[in-house]
Amino acid sequence: MELVRSERRGELILLTLNRPDSLNALDRAMLETLQARVGEVAEDAEARALVLTGEGRAFAAGADIEQMSGLTPTEAEAFSRLGHRACAALEALPIPTLAAVNGFALGGGCELACACDWIYASEKARFGQPEVNLGIIPGFGGTSRLARRVGLAWAKELVLTGEPIRAQEALRIGLANRVFAPEELLPETLRIGEAISRRGPVAVAQAKRIMQQGQDADARVAHVLEQNAFGVVFSTDDRVEGMEAFLEKRDPEFAGR
Ligand code: COA
Repeated sequence: MELVRSERRGELILLTLNRPDSLNALDRAMLETLQARVGEVAEDAEARALVLTGEGRAFAAGADIEQMSGLTPTEAEAFSRLGHRACAALEALPIPTLAAVNGFALGGGCELACACDWIYASEKARFGQPEVNLGIIPGFGGTSRLARRVGLAWAKELVLTGEPIRAQEALRIGLANRVFAPEELLPETLRIGEAISRRGPVAVAQAKRIMQQGQDADARVAHVLEQNAFGVVFSTDDRVEGMEAFLEKRDPEFAGR
């Protein structure tokens, strides 16, 4: 069985975590496979957006507890680095990445969702960082990415209490951008992915890159990054096409260059 299914839907890539009997628990093989699938997407010049979801009733219920129970401290550090590599690979993709959280997104599952550009949630979704219940802490970015997304106080509440929250609460704190009925989640997420694929690809990639880099820079550097990228997009055929199409009152057809 393919642990992470990769399907192409036009210009969209749909990745599905596919270990439903274990609620898509993330063991080494899952993380390595995910990293490999994401690596293929990075090489795919035609891909315009990626959707990540889970098979069955979970997005992912965390790192695999059975596998973790036998780890030495050194092995645990290596496992954390593996999870970080998979999350970093997702985060580094030049195309927008949307998490469609269909069910449990706990521990590593919540961290994986936070490595995507934004999250849409099913009404059935549950988010949480329950690691302290096991006497451990988040290991795939939960103490950093989550805080950036929802603010330090909410991240501390989630990480330090280990209590899960429902989709509506995730929406309220800005962890999920939108909540959909379960049967609507994937079609709506794909629809938004398709809308992105009709935008100027170079512009989308440039905007994503500088928004990400700008987060790690001070405001003056972030402003310069924007000014430079603004110049770059003016060198593209897409810019000419986009503006001509507007003036000619037709839809643009972007070539992505
Ligand atoms: N690691 C390994 N296996 C896991 C898992 C995990 N993180 N989460 C779920 N599973 C497995 C269960 O062991 C069970 O396997 P089994 O059928 O062979 O017994 C199967 O997935 C179904 O889970 P189950 O607990 O029976 O479902 P539930 O609906 O009663 O509870 C959860 C769902 C998500 C509340 C519960 O599975 C849970 O608390 N999981 C762990 C969450 C967690 O602590 N994650 C952070 C890890 S650092």
